[in-house]
Formats: sequence, structure tokens, C-alpha cells
Amino acid sequence: MTRVSAKRRMQYRYSAVNQGMRNLLRDNPWPDFDYGSIEPFVLPLGSSRAAGIDLILAAIADHNVVTMVEIGVFVGGRSRRWLDSQEDLVVIGVDMWDYDWDDYVAEAAKFPTGSWGISDLSDTEIKEIGGHLRQHGNFRVCMNNLDAYRDRFFPVRRIASEALTNLKDRHIAVDLIYVDGFRRSTDLEKAHELFPDAILCGENWQWPDSEGRLAMQEIVKTFAAVNGLEVETSEQVWVLRKPTAKADLNLTTAANQGLTNLRRDNPWPEFDHGTIKPFHLSLDGNGQAGREIIEKILIDKDIKTMVEVGVFLGGSARQWLKCKKDLLVIGVDPWNHNWADYLADASKDPVQSRSFSAFTETEVAEIVTNIRDHGNFQVALNNMREFQDRFVPVRRFSPEALVYLKARQIDVELIYIDAFKRSLDLEKAYELYPDAILCGDDWLWPDANGKLVMQDIVKAFAAAHGFEVESKRQSWVLHKPAA
Ligand SMILES: C[S@@+](CC[C@H](N)C(=O)[O-])C[C@H]1O[C@@H](n2cnc3c(N)ncnc32)[C@H](O)[C@@H]1O
Repeated sequence: MTRVSAKRRMQYRYSAVNQGMRNLLRDNPWPDFDYGSIEPFVLPLGSSRAAGIDLILAAIADHNVVTMVEIGVFVGGRSRRWLDSQEDLVVIGVDMWDYDWDDYVAEAAKFPTGSWGISDLSDTEIKEIGGHLRQHGNFRVCMNNLDAYRDRFFPVRRIASEALTNLKDRHIAVDLIYVDGFRRSTDLEKAHELFPDAILCGENWQWPDSEGRLAMQEIVKTFAAVNGLEVETSEQVWVLRKPTAKADLNLTTAANQGLTNLRRDNPWPEFDHGTIKPFHLSLDGNGQAGREIIEKILIDKDIKTMVEVGVFLGGSARQWLKCKKDLLVIGVDPWNHNWADYLADASKDPVQSRSFSAFTETEVAEIVTNIRDHGNFQVALNNMREFQDRFVPVRRFSPEALVYLKARQIDVELIYIDAFKRSLDLEKAYELYPDAILCGDDWLWPDANGKLVMQDIVKAFAAAHGFEVESKRQSWVLHKPAA
């Protein structure tokens, strides 16, 4: 047999015969089963009595959702709610539907009514359901529950991220994605990456993990902040939407405006600055990042207020503050991880170690230990302490942080971007501050495939908005051509 080349396989994958709803159903058929033998049932698992579910039904209705994806269908309880709410709605149900979850149902049934378990069924009914699951498995039982909707419910039996990619390849337009799989951020990220215009929503807002942490709430809040989305919640349910002007209203009162109040609400942490010696560590190959083009702009344009997105340990922020004595830097960074191990590795890497050449091995070890003990935030601000009057730490993610600054009517003349190489930060910076000079780092940073990601992003952005790009090694600045 001749081997099909990878290129040819890709052609098959993208060919028209694999596209569209009809072919999705062809390739994901309903299982052969006697659909009359078990009485369909609704099993409200997870949060009792569908708490807050009306918020999702409203999102479906208000946004004229025609096609939605449900990740984590189990036995179809929620799917029926969506399908009953709109007679022309199509639900693509994504689940592995492996095994039978008889034990899980029995366990859930032990939770008290009104809590996390199954509150609406009698013990006999629950036992009966367990028996069906054991005998027929999750998949068939779910399909049996949804039999009446077989023209509008399309089962896709795959892992979430892979299923979403498959839908994208098939050019399926998706208006809303409901995420109720395992409580992790990757499904959300993939959904948003592939279907950026789809409304994202889900449940488990108040679900506590074994340590009592509201895990899903933390995931959703961080995801919303990173992607500049608004969260609306109702009991267990959350919905993410693109921000509306309305959301900023509560920040536009005088009490929340201006630099004084920005400082008031973003105070420096209280810690013993004396115990760690400040150090100057920039991930700039020991001054080889071409940052002099940024310094020149700061001076030539007499910049008084700038935002730095991605401060890390303050290396570049210190550079700007030293080069211009009346400059104020608003430093945006979540400082939410501990990068001790990353620094230890970088200091040994043949290329990255250049940034550490001013330090002895003992000094690097000391930095690593301090970060491990005190965290990125404390060590970064300790490094910035001599600039306490000219550095405002804003512990948030861009682009949400930029929306926050704008709502507070902070004038920003320059925005320097040195974060996670995403076009969103640049686009939002321009949308909110069209007159600010936009610049940043990572011009020559290659991803795992050798692609110069930030350079591509900046060039595409410059072309779309009529900017000229100046670059030097890692640094770049966007200029508006003289009229
Ligand atoms: C390469 S480091 C910055 C290095 C620093 N500018 C210097 O030269 O010393 C990247 C930083 O970006 C931060 N970061 C990542 N995503 C961000 C976001 N969406 N908003 C703000 N900061 C972000 C990380 O926490 C990290 O501290």
C-alpha cells in the first residue's frame, strides 16, 4: 500500500467533504441502540437545581446563538435545557463518554439536598440510573436521554481541545461555548484561541476543591483579566463577554481618577527592604537589547508618564527611571509566579546567561534563593525601592490593566511591552491610548519553531495601522510617518 504523505493527509483534513454540520454528523454518528428501552431522565449533577443557569439561557437568547458547543455533557441534563430554550438551537456536545459513572452518581447522591449532589431524585431512581449506566455505559445512556433532539444535538466524542480544533478545521461557526469539563484553564484558552468571537460560559463558580479553594473561579478570573473580558456571574454560573463601556462606569467617578488615587489603590507592599540588596537584572543580554532607542525616545519626546507591561524584576524599569529623572513609570505585571527555577536555568543557558554576566555564581544563587523565599513581587519592588516616588506597581494583567488605567483617566504618553508576545496587548494599547508611543522588546525572540513571533505581530500591526517600525536588536518602536 502506498503511504499517504503528511501533506496529502492535511489536504484531506481541510477538504470540503470534511466541512460543515452535515459532515460533522456523518463522521460522528449516533450509536446503534434500542432507544425505546430506557426511560430518558434528567440528572442535574454538579450544582443543584441548575443554580444560575438562567444567565446562560439569557446569553443564548440575547446573542441569537444558533450553534453552541457544550464541553462535558455527561448524561445530557444541561443539553436538554439549552435545546428546550430555543427550538432552532444546535448543540455540539463534546465528551469522551468513556466508561460508566455509576460510582460517581452514587457518590454525588450522598451530598445533601441544595448542595452539590442530586437533589431531585429518589434513592430508587438513582439506583435505577446507576444500573443503566453500568449496563450500557455513559455514551448510550446519554444518547438515549437526548434521542428526542437527535436532529439538533451532535455528539463529538473527543477530548475538548482536540474537538475544538476539529470543529475549526471543519469551518463550523460557533457562537457560544459552555465549559463544564474538568476544571482547568486549557479548555478555555483553546476555545478562545480558536473561536475568539464566541461567548464563553460555564459553571462551578463556587465549587470548592479538596482544599476549599474556588478553583474554577480563580481560573476564570485570571483568564478574563488576561484576555480583557468581563465576567458576569449568577450563583454557580459565569459568562464572559467582551467589555462594554458600561463596565467602566464605576471607575469613572472622581474618587477613582488620577495618579494620586492610582497610588492610593496600588500601594507598595510592606516588607523589610533592608534584608535584600537591590540588584539590577534585565533579561537583555547584558545591555545588548538595543534599548538605547527607547531611551532616546523618552528624552527626545520628553516623556513624563509611561506604562511598562511586563516588569519582572525591574531591570528595564530601572533603566528608564535612571535615564530620565522626571519620568514616572507605571509598572504593570501580575507578579503571580515564583520564577526562581526559571532564573536558575536561564543563568546556565548559553544564550540567556549573557544577562547574568555582571553577577558571580554566588550572587546568582543568592538572587534565586531570595526569589524562592520572597516571590517575584517582593524582590522586584525591593529592586525598585530607590524609585518609590516614581514607580507605581499595578499588579494586574494587561490588557485589563490598560482598561483600568484608562478608566482612571491616567494620561499615558508611552507604552513599553515586554510580556508574553501577544498581539492583544498591542492592539488594546493602541485602542485605548491612540496617541501614546508604542514600543517594546522581543523583536528577535524566536519561538520553539524559530518563528520571530513578536516581530511578526509588530510588523502586521504597523502595516494595518500605518506605522513605521524602528528596531534595534530586541527593541522596537512604532512611529507615525510625518504627514
Ligand atoms: C520578560 S519578563 C519582563 C522583563 C523586564 N521588562 C526586564 O527587561 O527586566 C516578562 C514579564 O511579563 C509579565 N507578564 C506576562 N503576561 C503579562 C500580562 N498579560 N500583563 C502584564 N504582565 C505580564 C510576567 O509576569 C513577567 O514578569
